[in-house]
Amino acid sequence: MTISATEIVPDAETGGLRLAGKPIHPLWLRERVTEPESYDHHNHQRLYEHSELKEDLAIKTVALGSNSQSLKIEFSDGYKAVFDLNALAKELGMTDNPESIPLPKSWDSGLKFKRFSWNDLEDPAEMKALLKAYFENAFCIMDDTPIDRDSLKAHAKRFGFLRETNFGEIFNVETKPNPSDLAYTDVALASHTDNPYREPVPGIQYLHCLRNEVAGGLSTLVDGMAVAEAIGDENPDWLDILETIPVRFRYEGPSGVYESVGPLISRDHRGYISHIRFSSRVDFVPALDPSVLDLFYSARRRMHKLSNDLAFQIQFPFKPGTLLMMNNYRLFHGRTAFDGALGYRHLQGCYIDHDGPQALYRALAVGRTETYLPRET
Ligand SMILES: [Fe+2]
Repeated sequence: MTISATEIVPDAETGGLRLAGKPIHPLWLRERVTEPESYDHHNHQRLYEHSELKEDLAIKTVALGSNSQSLKIEFSDGYKAVFDLNALAKELGMTDNPESIPLPKSWDSGLKFKRFSWNDLEDPAEMKALLKAYFENAFCIMDDTPIDRDSLKAHAKRFGFLRETNFGEIFNVETKPNPSDLAYTDVALASHTDNPYREPVPGIQYLHCLRNEVAGGLSTLVDGMAVAEAIGDENPDWLDILETIPVRFRYEGPSGVYESVGPLISRDHRGYISHIRFSSRVDFVPALDPSVLDLFYSARRRMHKLSNDLAFQIQFPFKPGTLLMMNNYRLFHGRTAFDGALGYRHLQGCYIDHDGPQALYRALAVGRTETYLPRET
């Protein structure tokens, strides 16, 4: 409990309150009413439209509940409500909120990370640890997963709903000796992010190894947040133009023509780097003034260079049963070359949205023990 009686002060000027020195608008407080006639405790939704509240609503009286854990308020329209002070303190950031998603931490090639065993994830604490690692690093690696063909669907559904794309619910990255199709190639893949031409861009990518008989073909990951920070340190104008110029990404295929427009680097409402769009074969910058494009091309070249720089990169091999989960909005990924004539290499991939692992983390954080996301019925 962080808000004491002396820290609850009516604010005559605004008609609101001060809680531990923080000014609180009367409507802000009113919208947090949880009285049963105003709030459905089953679906956690309000039972009224907020525009029905009086615009000039004020707080008439304030009293601390007898247990000092609650706040009794009477509003100027005569409505009375009791608030949970702990819940208010949590939302106001005055106490820790266990549901808060762990913050991202930028990393480079020196990153030490734990690999998780699929068999341990029935333990809610282990699943929560995996999710924490995922939110901080934007990836996690699981070993010992079942390797039946298409079992990836069930693995990914543990974390969220499958996001089907123009490549289907699941796509195959398969290399055979004497390939009959150029799709089955063994060339290196430079750092990129997937499907920047989709709207919205798929959030989380899974890659699941079913079979691997070749040396090389290491998976590569680079933290886009670290690259963006390095570019900004080197030349703030570069970072600024990469965050500013809207670039069109386009894909033409049998399923249609897909386009999406956005800067190569975006931030979220808190200022964290939240979306890297980088796919150097499908991006089209507008025909801006050549002096502007001079700066843009320099910055993009630097982004390409750093995203393929070993100082920022981690590499790891795929073995059967390895499952990689990565944030396609934050990480660049790629692959080193290998000799496809040496044998089979078969990965399967799919996508889910960002909110699945977040929902699972919040459930585990408040003591729910299901390590699978339940489905609504
Ligand atoms: Fe990719």
